[in-house]
Amino acid sequence: MKSIEELEKIREQARELINLRKENENKTRIVVGMGTCGISAGARQVLLAILDELKKRNISDVIVTETGCIGMCRFEPLVDVIKPNQPKVTYVNVDADKARQIVARHIVNNQVIDEWVIPNI
Ligand code: FES
Repeated sequence: MKSIEELEKIREQARELINLRKENENKTRIVVGMGTCGISAGARQVLLAILDELKKRNISDVIVTETGCIGMCRFEPLVDVIKPNQPKVTYVNVDADKARQIVARHIVNNQVIDEWVIPNI
């Protein structure tokens, strides 16, 4: 049996986590597929290019995370861009150069690069 204080602490921690999630929902996220096939297709260079381009442009409010395999080897490296209140956009066969352009055109200028996108996966 937990004491009231312990329960209060747990509740506080849960509340912080919820707030953190809400804050993240209001931020742009870039998710790079780093499963085995993603890495062998060059996902590491893609991730590094994204981080470098964001840094160069002094963009610090974009969250960059990794995800595992989603069963679509032939489209790797995959990069999702999720902007608040917009549908997720998935770029396929991304390389370092495309990754930099995704930052410049989609993140900065809000232009989806349609020819590199696969709809709704
Ligand atoms: S190993 Fe290629 S999609 Fe998972």
